[in-house]
Amino acid sequence: MAGAGYKATHERSIRDREGFWLEEASRIDWRVKPTTALDASRLPFAQWFPDGQTNLCHNAVDRHLPERGAQSALVYISSETGATRTFTYAQVYREVNRLAGAMKGLGVECGDRVLIYMPMVPEAIFAMLATVRLGAVHSVVFGGFAAASLAARIDDAQPRLIMTADAGMRMGKVIPLKPLLDEALALSAAATPQVVVLDRGLAPDRARVAGRDHDYARLRGIHMNDEIACEWVPSSHPSYILYTSGTTGRPKGVQRDTGGYAVALASSMEYIYDSRPGEAWFCTSDIGWVVGHSYIVYAPLINGSTTILYEGLPMRPDPGVWWKIVQDYRVSGMFSSPTAIRVLKKQDPAWLGRYDLSTLRFLFLAGEPLDEPTSAWISKGLGVPVIDNYWQTETGWPILTAQPGIEDTPRKIGSPSFATYGYELEIRDEQTGAALGAGQKGVLCIVPPLPPGCMSTIWRDDERFISTYFSSFRGAPVYTTFDWATRDEDGYYFILGRTDDVINVAGHRLGTREIEEAVQTHANVAECAVVGVADALKGQVPVAFVVLKDPARAEGALQCSAHAREVQHAVDTHIGAIGRPAQVHFVAALPKTRSGKLLRRSIQALAEGRDPGDLTTLEDPAALEQVREALNPR
Ligand code: PRX
Repeated sequence: MAGAGYKATHERSIRDREGFWLEEASRIDWRVKPTTALDASRLPFAQWFPDGQTNLCHNAVDRHLPERGAQSALVYISSETGATRTFTYAQVYREVNRLAGAMKGLGVECGDRVLIYMPMVPEAIFAMLATVRLGAVHSVVFGGFAAASLAARIDDAQPRLIMTADAGMRMGKVIPLKPLLDEALALSAAATPQVVVLDRGLAPDRARVAGRDHDYARLRGIHMNDEIACEWVPSSHPSYILYTSGTTGRPKGVQRDTGGYAVALASSMEYIYDSRPGEAWFCTSDIGWVVGHSYIVYAPLINGSTTILYEGLPMRPDPGVWWKIVQDYRVSGMFSSPTAIRVLKKQDPAWLGRYDLSTLRFLFLAGEPLDEPTSAWISKGLGVPVIDNYWQTETGWPILTAQPGIEDTPRKIGSPSFATYGYELEIRDEQTGAALGAGQKGVLCIVPPLPPGCMSTIWRDDERFISTYFSSFRGAPVYTTFDWATRDEDGYYFILGRTDDVINVAGHRLGTREIEEAVQTHANVAECAVVGVADALKGQVPVAFVVLKDPARAEGALQCSAHAREVQHAVDTHIGAIGRPAQVHFVAALPKTRSGKLLRRSIQALAEGRDPGDLTTLEDPAALEQVREALNPR
């Protein structure tokens, strides 16, 4: 299909879905080859390759063995511990079989859930691959989430097994994980799972619960020679659940299928990422996020690439660490986030010139808006084009992007270019639902079916899938991205921020409701509003406005800042430091409408120094004044 040009490829992917995706399906191995691409009989639930049977681990590992057994599959580099470990495809195969054997021995069966709460170590990837090898379903929880968030995910996924480690490391500091898991299990109402602990020798606390906790190294030894056959599953069999934030405080379990995901990722490595099998690929995300699932683990491995797993920060031990990796491993494609590049931009630009970056062809950035200075700086510094990808946890791969593997179309600053093949997009008026034309701002929507690779439903909640994503407008249902967008005369899209209460902190998606619920766990908090406020480095940061039950306890500068720290701490212990409000302001009342709805957009506007907008429904103008004063104390 490549060679046909972007426009023709995109048009065909929509007009001839069957033909297009059946051709793409031949990129992966099937136990039973599909004869149809799509079952659209139950839209908006789409089933891709409904009569196909396959296995994700087979496609990521086993099928490469004859040709690439001796090629590096995974290179692990930790600037935290100083470790570097390389695994060939044959070695990954062995490690995954050992772990799959151990999981099986602990009772994990097809369809069971395995929760993975681990740092960025190779064993976390082995755990993902071993899970899908057995036809089980993984739920990776970002290692930065605290006990209460973890407990909520355990309750929802009801895992039979949890994989964890003694600790992660950040900026040279040991961050214990196992005690947080113990805490989460004490909070959780789910049946007690089995627990496997990878002991990295980082945390001294080796408390284990007999009969529940098992040692990774010991199990590995027992299952050293296991060969565990892949479980062939129907294409629509769930491969994983990944929780993400929305408008409510309750995270949604995005459920992904098997065959559609494998095909979408395989095609994306050529069409979007222009990456050839055998080349080194470096994605700097975390396996706890969707970018890590798709572009550290599955896409590069399915593609037969060498994937680089990096544990650490971009400027430690020095701001050249990533560029040294590019040089040393001859990386051809790199995937990162605008925040990471903004962090590097503050360092001495000479770092970019110290290494031979001639193998690099593209830098892809995703997860948050990409500003022009950042894009221009890094493009010039690396001497390669920067490609802005727009997508979501829900879609699993880009919705909007340039697709240089199909055609190297010119790029416009500030725009993630065009609809990816397979995606039929519309921009709709928020009120009327009418499809809008060039230059008009509206809500970006996907016309069903969602393409292969996108979420199949919300875990165990089909109704919520429909009511959340497909119920914004009357008439034929469309998927709402909850992002504002425009399209210009040349067809380039521009993303203008969320329509809902989701915020984006350093590329990490958080729901303001979740943070508010965490703030409210503080005993002296009566009510609160959390809004995302523009930040030059992180894109957005959470800022909390809090009404206290007993305001006297926060009177005076000292008590006030002590109280603010307590509120921040409440968020740290419930969500994790990523949700911590950058500022906490105490006010006597929150601005609300007469019907009692919090005027978050007005609060946010004030916090960003903008006009608070239409205030005709405001119940108590003094409350807004309070917010203004809290932000600009006299
Ligand atoms: O608001 C959009 C923003 O991040 C949201 C999705 O976040 P998440 O589920 O964490 O998935 C990230 C996958 C890359 C979107 O609804 N967003 C993502 N990419 C961009 C973006 N905003 C502007 N430009 C982007 N390239």
